[in-house]
Amino acid sequence: GRGVAVVTAVVTRLATNRRLLEETLVPFRLDREQLAAVQVQMQEAMAKGLRGEASSLRMLPTYVRAVPDGSERGDFLALDLGGTNFRVLLVRVAATGVQITSEVYTIPELMAQGPGQQLFDHIVDCIVDFQQKKGLVGQSLPLGFTFSFPCRQLGLDQGILLNWTKGFSASDCVGQDVVALLREAIRRRQAVELNVVAIVNDTVGTMMSCGYKDPRCEVGLIVGTGTNACYMEELQNVAGVDGDSGHMCINMEWGAFGDDGTLGVLSTHFDASVDGASINPGRQRFEKLISGMYLGEIVCHILLHLTRLGVLFQGQQTQQLQARGIFKTKFLSQIESDSPALRKVRDILQGLGLSLTSDDALIVREVCQAVSRRAAQLCGAGVAAVVEKIRENRGLEELTVTVGVDGTLYKLHPHFSRLVEATVRDLAPRCKVTFRQSEDGSGKGAALVTAVACRLAQTPRI
Ligand code: GLC
Repeated sequence: GRGVAVVTAVVTRLATNRRLLEETLVPFRLDREQLAAVQVQMQEAMAKGLRGEASSLRMLPTYVRAVPDGSERGDFLALDLGGTNFRVLLVRVAATGVQITSEVYTIPELMAQGPGQQLFDHIVDCIVDFQQKKGLVGQSLPLGFTFSFPCRQLGLDQGILLNWTKGFSASDCVGQDVVALLREAIRRRQAVELNVVAIVNDTVGTMMSCGYKDPRCEVGLIVGTGTNACYMEELQNVAGVDGDSGHMCINMEWGAFGDDGTLGVLSTHFDASVDGASINPGRQRFEKLISGMYLGEIVCHILLHLTRLGVLFQGQQTQQLQARGIFKTKFLSQIESDSPALRKVRDILQGLGLSLTSDDALIVREVCQAVSRRAAQLCGAGVAAVVEKIRENRGLEELTVTVGVDGTLYKLHPHFSRLVEATVRDLAPRCKVTFRQSEDGSGKGAALVTAVACRLAQTPRI
């Protein structure tokens, strides 16, 4: 009778929705072959970049030649620009360990994307504020500047900004030496001269801070707002830097991997939408598949699509989802931690003005899982390429190596780290890789790079 007809209709609708959901998520489910191909392409791009040939990987020399040996001592200032916040730190490196005091300052979006002078003036104001608060006025401590953007370095204390990434686009900075920009701002503000010893990428800082405890740490990895890696390369393989013995840390800038089109087949039309709406379309393609600044956006685009298909929210509420930046990546972490009650999923979505059924909640969670899983696996394929490169460089049957890691996505997401590690184990079986989370990698690392430089130069410290 009628009852049967209604049940049949409901069952058919559920089956159709399931199928539509699956069809939508299929391109996010990468198999082993696809991941192995990413690893191979990454290794090829690394080799080209190192030789100075055209490659989406810039493979930038950092002038960091050694991890700390533990004999470094002194007080250092560190700046950290490029993550979630701007920070100023005082780092004391003593025989008993490393002690850090820091202050967090926000960089409003208007400043990150406005005139460059204004950005650097703001940075100097924060430094002055910090010096006053900590009673450091008048002291000229050696300073390490963690500046987490691609820079062409000509030495440890000189870095020319090649392009902005993540949420930054301040004018008149690209092509300039970042240390000079800082010095000019100090002059404009009539502040006390700073003794800038080193400019450091956050990946390098992370590797150094883990290397302080573990000399096997020869890779640094960040999965936060952006994503990137660095590692110790044989100096003889690095074009453009003199010397043919020893090592040098290379900032890969792997976020740009695929900007030459190599990742084309992997990226979906949702990724294309996220890229198109970003402040740097066509650039940082790998980063846009992996890092915290973009995952929430990808999820949002998928949810919109499913709503239009009528699979989600009874086909309503597309308007709420259209607001850019509404779906924060931290929601992925929260939604995926939540089982089996799905209460969190409901709370979060209701907070966004969306009302939902328990079917909706389940679907949203599946979408989040598919997106973060792909991100972690691609990141793992990248790490596999890096450790294999180190192993091949050294002609080893088996390599034992530690990867120092930092970044909110890696640290806070409930499954991300496990998936990265599983992928590396699968794709680089001849490497025994330990992952070690750094505590305050960028701050401490910048101080340690500075400390090593001071030790080597035997600069007298005040
Ligand atoms: C972006 C930057 C890179 C940095 C990474 C992680 O990819 O270009 O320099 O290491 O974000 O913060």
